[in-house]
Amino acid sequence: MAAARQQKAKSKTAGRGKKPVAKAGRKKASKASKKRSAKRKKIYKYTARTADKHELYEESVQNPESDVKFLTRVFKKENGRLPLGLREDFCGTGFLCAEWVKSNPERFAVGIDLDRPTLDWGIDRHMKPMGEPGDRVDLLCKNVLDVNRPKVDCAVAFNFSYCTFQDRQDLLRYMKTARSSLRKGGMFVLDIHGGPESLEEIEEDTDYDDFTYVWDQGPIDALTNHTHRAIHFSFPDGSRMRNAFRYDWRVWTMPELQDLLREAGFRRIDIYWEGFDEDGEGNGIFRKIKRAENDDSWIAYVVAWL
Ligand SMILES: C[S@@+](CC[C@H](N)C(=O)[O-])C[C@H]1O[C@@H](n2cnc3c(N)ncnc32)[C@H](O)[C@@H]1O
Repeated sequence: MAAARQQKAKSKTAGRGKKPVAKAGRKKASKASKKRSAKRKKIYKYTARTADKHELYEESVQNPESDVKFLTRVFKKENGRLPLGLREDFCGTGFLCAEWVKSNPERFAVGIDLDRPTLDWGIDRHMKPMGEPGDRVDLLCKNVLDVNRPKVDCAVAFNFSYCTFQDRQDLLRYMKTARSSLRKGGMFVLDIHGGPESLEEIEEDTDYDDFTYVWDQGPIDALTNHTHRAIHFSFPDGSRMRNAFRYDWRVWTMPELQDLLREAGFRRIDIYWEGFDEDGEGNGIFRKIKRAENDDSWIAYVVAWL
């Protein structure tokens, strides 16, 4: 069990249910084959010079299809109807907004992010091919604290983005804002990374077919839980893209989040815990639980009901 938990800790911050390449299956090239490949000019899909950081991020971190399935399942079970409106806070490229509206013609989405270039990248990649932004998707270049319309069924803050709020009052204000954007029966969903390993200073590699995703956890201030986190990418040609994304965060604990959500006025809070596969890796399947073991590293969804 301990070994399984140890393994489960690996690649927790890479995307939920994503399929990294198993490191054990990779062979070291022999000297002869290295020589041969030096003669041939290798074509790499990605190098640090040619790769696009948003494309790599979406490939390694996000899994909007499974997010849409999860949100639909949980909302439908509670309300007996399909959720139609989504608010994606800290939306970045709006990948989830795009998947949401593609999944049903009646659905609409609003994405909110402060970073104009990231939103523009998402508009070109995800929105324009489906004739949006328009009637069904709106991407707002705003602070999440300043938006509470349109009213939606699901408001989400994924990939721990709310950790940008380091002061209790700010996080509470944010939760109240998200709550005020919900329609009757609405839910606000956050994800959280916890367990002893989430507080350690570590660098963790996860291999994908054409690049390696590196999650970098800086030291944590024991008095404030303040920390720096970063994502780097490295490539088969030996090049590296350091600090493709950098975060200045406070690590919030599960009890703190639940206390704040109650204080913000949410009626009930459900916790969905990620299961793991036969190799001890997170399997992207989340089940509602009442108690949980504090594994080395775990991921959960916190679902707060209006
Ligand atoms: C970790 S990324 C999240 C991307 C995506 N939502 C995901 O699930 O992977 C964090 C994003 O939050 C944005 N951001 C940070 N503070 C914000 C704020 N107060 N209001 C709106 N966006 C903010 C940043 O510009 C960045 O694009």
